Amino acid sequence: MGGFEGGMLDAASDFVLGLPKCELHVHLEGTLEAEMARSMVARHGNDPASVGLGERPAAFAGLSDFLARYYAAMQGLQDEDDFYELTTAYLETARRQGVVYAEMFFDPQAHTSRGVPFGTVVSGIHRAQQDALARGGPDSALVMCLLRDESLDSAHATLAESLPYRDRGWILGIGLDSDERGNPPSKFAGVFERARGAGFRVTMHCDPRQETSVAHLWECLDVIGVERIDHGIECLSDDRLTGEIARRRLGLTACPLSNLRLYGTLMADAVTELMARDVLVTLNSDDPAYFGGYIADNFAAVADEAHLTRAELAVLAKNAFLASWLAPARRDGYLRAVDDYVSAAAPSHSAPTR
Ligand code: ADE
Ligand code: ZN
Repeated sequence: MGGFEGGMLDAASDFVLGLPKCELHVHLEGTLEAEMARSMVARHGNDPASVGLGERPAAFAGLSDFLARYYAAMQGLQDEDDFYELTTAYLETARRQGVVYAEMFFDPQAHTSRGVPFGTVVSGIHRAQQDALARGGPDSALVMCLLRDESLDSAHATLAESLPYRDRGWILGIGLDSDERGNPPSKFAGVFERARGAGFRVTMHCDPRQETSVAHLWECLDVIGVERIDHGIECLSDDRLTGEIARRRLGLTACPLSNLRLYGTLMADAVTELMARDVLVTLNSDDPAYFGGYIADNFAAVADEAHLTRAELAVLAKNAFLASWLAPARRDGYLRAVDDYVSAAAPSHSAPTR
């Protein structure tokens, strides 16, 4: 683990760390650090060495390579306490990184397909969310992702299993992730329509560097009617698409360190270009246990490469609250907290980061 968790700090990164932040794109299973994965596998009587859990390369050969390792590492997640431990560890790290509110993804089909009941997964996660809140935060909500490389029948069955937890308010939204090749948003139009009818908020991944990125982004807008887009950065290759995303005020949850480890670039220029085009772009950590850093590390990496000012960092932090699914009063409270932080930080941090 590098970055802030590894203890690197200077005046600019100190500002980033204290900035009140909202995480909108983190996969709980992507916060499973190798050591925790190994100890869970061992606890359940299996040999961690036999499943290659130590392999977390500095660079992945694209999304499919990453996903194969990500799913393999999950086999230690078996009982409610495992999901509790995973979520507790993430929320504690997020708190240290200055996160005050997180909308967190989980992948139920990656567990139910291994025989772990849906209720076991959400009960462990929910208990950890409640306990973190009682300890002072961060506050959090849960977004269920459907795996786009699984069948439509499996997606419908998973949605059906989730409905009691939607009714209890344990799951706020629905998303779509995993391998995008051959799995367009339109494949899931029916299931997302049902989900919206049941009260779920709606987002979808459109990963960078996919052959079909632009076509999939248009489907997100025209067929699905998403409220947010995960990654989505490739919209910049289509001016009309970028304009429409800005006009609809759709959040785009960029993940710089994920881009770096998967595609060799932070895509920091794209972030500043999206800001200039008035798109509600946000910075996030995606799968931080694999990509070398959590949210403050992502802010620091982009600030460094794009020479962002403190005012620009504050805009990025505020974009995330604006793109969140918080009730307006709470959202506005967090927006004021960012402004207050920037005003209070000004005297002791008078030099801009550039
Ligand atoms: N599952 C976990 N991380 C993902 C990502 N970045 N893209 C698609 N599916 C994922
Ligand atoms: Zn993701």
